Amino acid sequence: MARLNADTADDRDVALAAARQALGGDDRTFLDRFAQSFPILHELFAQLYGDRADGREALASVIAAAAASWRARPAALKVHDAEREAHPDWFQSERMLGGVCYVDRYGGTLAGIRAQIPYFRELGLTYLHLMPLFASPEGNNDGGYAVSSYRQVDPPLGTMEELADLASDLRDAGISLVVDFIFNHTSDEHEWARKAVAGEPGFEDFYLIFPDRSMPDRYEETVREIFPDDHPGAFVQLPDGRWIWATFYHFQWDLNYANPAVFQAMAGEMLFLANQGVEILRMDAVAFIWKRLGTACESLSEAHLLLRAFNAVLHMGAPSVLFKSEAIVHPDEVVAYISPEECRLSYNPLQMALTWEALATRDGRLLQQALERRHALPAGTAWVNYVRSHDDIGWTFADEDAAELGIEGYPHRRFLNDFYVGRIEGTFSRGVPFQENPKTGDARIAGTTASLAGIEAGDDGGEDRVILAHAIALSTGGIPLIYLGDEVAQLNDYTYRDDPARAGDSRWVHRPERPEAAYAARHDLSTSAGRVHERLTALIAARRRTRELAGNTLLPFEAHEPSVIGYQRPGDDDTVLVLANVGDHAVPVDAATLSGFSPEAVDVVTDRPIRLDDGLELPAHGFVWLRVKPA
Ligand code: GLC
Repeated sequence: MARLNADTADDRDVALAAARQALGGDDRTFLDRFAQSFPILHELFAQLYGDRADGREALASVIAAAAASWRARPAALKVHDAEREAHPDWFQSERMLGGVCYVDRYGGTLAGIRAQIPYFRELGLTYLHLMPLFASPEGNNDGGYAVSSYRQVDPPLGTMEELADLASDLRDAGISLVVDFIFNHTSDEHEWARKAVAGEPGFEDFYLIFPDRSMPDRYEETVREIFPDDHPGAFVQLPDGRWIWATFYHFQWDLNYANPAVFQAMAGEMLFLANQGVEILRMDAVAFIWKRLGTACESLSEAHLLLRAFNAVLHMGAPSVLFKSEAIVHPDEVVAYISPEECRLSYNPLQMALTWEALATRDGRLLQQALERRHALPAGTAWVNYVRSHDDIGWTFADEDAAELGIEGYPHRRFLNDFYVGRIEGTFSRGVPFQENPKTGDARIAGTTASLAGIEAGDDGGEDRVILAHAIALSTGGIPLIYLGDEVAQLNDYTYRDDPARAGDSRWVHRPERPEAAYAARHDLSTSAGRVHERLTALIAARRRTRELAGNTLLPFEAHEPSVIGYQRPGDDDTVLVLANVGDHAVPVDAATLSGFSPEAVDVVTDRPIRLDDGLELPAHGFVWLRVKPA
C-alpha cells in the first residue's frame, strides 16, 4: 500500500499497469484518454485522499474500473461517443426539448414507455428523463430516490436488458435517455448498507455512523433540516442505538465520500449505467455529498472535487455521457457546479421559481434581474429550463438580489407560499404545502402547472399563465424541459392522500398517472387539454425553427413596465426579442421603447409580419417572440 505521491510517475505506472490489465492489452483510444485524464484525477485524488495510506491503490482501482468498463462498452455506444465528440455542443440546439416522467405512472412499465416513443416524437422530444427506476424498498421509497441496487431495475417495471434496449430505441428516435445518478445516499436495504451496519470489513466506513449523539449534536448545530416532516435534524437512530446520517428520509443513508472505497464503488455503478446507454446522468442532491463539522455540509469545495473526479472517470470510460446538476440552493452555489469539468447541464431553479414569483406578484422585476445577472454560463454548458419538476417549488432567490428591489426575503417567501397554497384571498392557485417547518417558518409548495396557474380554480388567466410560463422556459436557451402531462393541462391528483406510502409526501399531488382522457382530447379545442396542447405545441414548433433560440446568449431588454419581462436572443443575423407580460391587464410597449429596432418585425410563432412603429400591446399574461433587426 502506498500514499499518493507528489511526483506522479510511480502512481501513474501503477495505474497504467492496472488499466492495461483491465483492457487486456493496449487500446489506443483509452490510453489517449488516460493520458489526458490521469493527471487530473491524480490531482483530485491527492486533494481528497492524499492522507490515506492506500491512496495509490484506490486510484489504480478506479482507473482499472474505467478501463474494464470501456472494454465492455457496446460498439454502438463507442460510435455514439465519437459522434458526440465531433459535435460537443449538440445539446445547445434549438431543436432540443426535454420531457420527464415516472415509468410506472406514465407507462406502467419500461415496455409501456417504449410504446410511447411515437408520442414523444410527435411532441418533439430529444431528451427523456425517466424518474428513478431502480430496485428500492416496498412502500415509501421517496419515489425511487432510495436505491437498493443500481444494477437492478425495480422488478415491476422491467429488467436492465429492457432499459438498455429502450435506451437504444430512444437513441434511434433522436432521444437521449436521462436517468438519475443517486449518489449521495442509498436505501437502508442496499447491500452496502446492510454490510456497514453489520460491521463487515471494508464496509464499516461506507456511511456516517456514530456510537452516540455527541457528534450528531455537533453537526446539527450547523446543518439544515431537509425533510423535517420525516425526522428532525440530519440523523436517525439505528435499532442498536447508534446514529446514522440521513439527510432526506430516514431510510436514505448518506454515503461517506471521505472513504475512497465509496468513490470507487459509486464510480463503478456510474460506469455500469453509462454502458446501458444512458446519455445524461442527473446528479441527484449534489450539494450534500461532502460533510465537514462546523459547516452547513452543503456545497463544500470537496463536492466540486468529487464531481470533477467522477467526470474524469467518465471521460475515460464513457466519454459522451454528460452530467446534469441538481442543486436547488442559493444561485451563487447553483452556478458553481456548472462547467465542462463538473456538470455541463444544470436545472435552472432560479428562473423556474421566479417565473412563479412573477405570476403571483404580477411584477416581473425579480425575474428580469435574474435574467440580467444570473443567466450567463461558461462556454460548453447549458441550463435546463423548466416550469416545474417532480419536486416542490422552493423560493431559492438570493435575499441580497431581492433587497436591491426593496423586497425582503423572509416575508416575501411567506407570501409566495401562502399565495400558492391558497391562503390568500383572490389567489388563482391550488397548490399544497410541502415540508412546512414550524421552527423556521420555512416551507415549499407542490402542485401541477395547471393547478398552480389557475386552471383548477377556474381562473380566466389559467391557460394563459401555463403557456406564458412555458414561453419563458422555451425561449431562454439551453434545454427546455416539460413535465409530461403539463402539455395537456393535467390537474393536481389528490388520491395520494389515501395511499399510506404517499400520504406523508405532498409532492405526489403533482405526480399523477398519465392522463389518458386529456391526451385523447389533445386535439379538441373545446377542452383545456386541447387548447393548452395546441398553443404549447405551436411554441415548440416555433422554437425548433428559430435558430436564435439556441445556446445561452441573452441580452436584457428594458420594457419600462414592471409587469413586462424583456430579453433578446441574438442570432447570427437577426435577434429574437421576447416580451412577456405577467400582469392581469393588457399593457402597451410604446414605439419609442422599440425604436432601436427596424419597424418590420416577424412574429416567429405565427410567422406573421408585425410593425413596431406604432408600439405594441401585450395582452394580460401575453407574450411575443419577435424576429427583429436593428434600426
Ligand atoms: C432530490 C430529488 C428528490 C429527492 C431527493 C433525495 O432532491 O429530486 O425528489 O427527494 O433528491 O434523493
